[in-house]
Amino acid sequence: MKIGIDRMAFATTDQYIELTELAEKRGVDPNKYTIGIGQDRQAVVPPTQDIVTLGARAAKKLLTPDVTRRLSTIIVATESGIDNSKASAIYIKHLLGLDDYIRAVELKEACYSGTAAIQFARGLVALNSQETVLVIAADIARYGLNTPGEVTQGAGAVAMLISADPHVLAIEPTSVSYSRDLMDFWRPLYATEAIVDGKYSTGVYVDFFKNTLTRYLQRTGRRLDDFAGIAFHLPFTKMGKKGLEGVLQDRDDAVANRLRDQLTASQVYCRQVGNLYTGSLYLGLMSLLQNGQVKPGDRLGLFSYGSGAEGEFYSGIVQPAFAENLSDVKEDLADRHRVSIDEYEQLFNSQLGMQTADVQFDLQNDDAPFVLAGQKDHQRIYQRR
Ligand code: HMG
Repeated sequence: MKIGIDRMAFATTDQYIELTELAEKRGVDPNKYTIGIGQDRQAVVPPTQDIVTLGARAAKKLLTPDVTRRLSTIIVATESGIDNSKASAIYIKHLLGLDDYIRAVELKEACYSGTAAIQFARGLVALNSQETVLVIAADIARYGLNTPGEVTQGAGAVAMLISADPHVLAIEPTSVSYSRDLMDFWRPLYATEAIVDGKYSTGVYVDFFKNTLTRYLQRTGRRLDDFAGIAFHLPFTKMGKKGLEGVLQDRDDAVANRLRDQLTASQVYCRQVGNLYTGSLYLGLMSLLQNGQVKPGDRLGLFSYGSGAEGEFYSGIVQPAFAENLSDVKEDLADRHRVSIDEYEQLFNSQLGMQTADVQFDLQNDDAPFVLAGQKDHQRIYQRR
């Protein structure tokens, strides 16, 4: 039985900044951001948006009466949780008006947990092929104003249906996961911004890619030639390049250049949004499917990485109706509006964060279908439009 990704949809916020403007404000050469890091724009998060509103917005695009009837489980993969106890999946299920006879949980291991969620969902579908599992990878990447990580922030959600006879990608049986106890990036319970050993983290990422890919190739007997393309976790687009070149080294043949071209296609959306943490690999996959040279029957590799650290390399076969089962990311990105760096800084500093008092946000400037209206008696208040 084929099991895999049946449909995919993306959502981000309605605001962005131009990174050349951020460079000017920070006194940095704009080429450092656009070439050295490889990012052009970054999603800006108003206080009225969080992983629940973004996750619900992405998932809503996938729901039809038939899908809703088959849904058995919602798994939200995130490292931007809004509660230390209650799962964001419960809030999202409520906002979407889904049946109460649905299992709803949250999963965490930095940027890797979206992949864990897909693998767990595969297991559920293997037990009962009539079930569909909704996986939502939603995050807000925050490092802080005027930090080295600032240029690699971002936000958004990718929602995916995992089912039998999938329309987008049939996942192949062999996957290699690899985990080690490392401190390259983490966020203590009392912090709203990540702590990161940036340069060290980029080295660990490359090592984990080499380790997981090498073992995958040993186990399957496949070679790089067998992949039409590889989608990477993209904390920023240059990171995917570092990973791929770490394996290709000086190769300049047709296979190596095809993988380089496909990498460029997979980076198109990340360049405009930034890091989605758990969703980044899957936005990269959507970008590859919508902008690359991909046809049904092609094998794609997927490299997932989460700090702390855990990596996984796996593969899937592109399905005939893949193009019609992806949401229109280009349209979403074109519909956003630019904000100034001053406005971005003001929005950055007005998040709910660790506040304990009651708060009521002004909702006038947010037209999103789901909003965080505020907090009352230590409870988050959401609204569906
Ligand atoms: P930095 O201090 O800006 O680094 O930090 P830099 O000074 O080395 O510059 C970066 C690049 O720009 C370099 O290129 C420079 O040469 C180049 P590279 O040598 O790396 O190829 N550069 C220029 N290029 C053109 N024109 C210029 C110019 N000047 C310099 N004028 C860093 C960069 C990525 C470390 C920082 O932004 C950071 O800490 N980011 C956050 C951490 C991160 O994203 N790590 C990635 C791997 S870990 C991961 O993926 C997991 C993660 O998603 C979290 C999770 O799992 O939950 C982060």
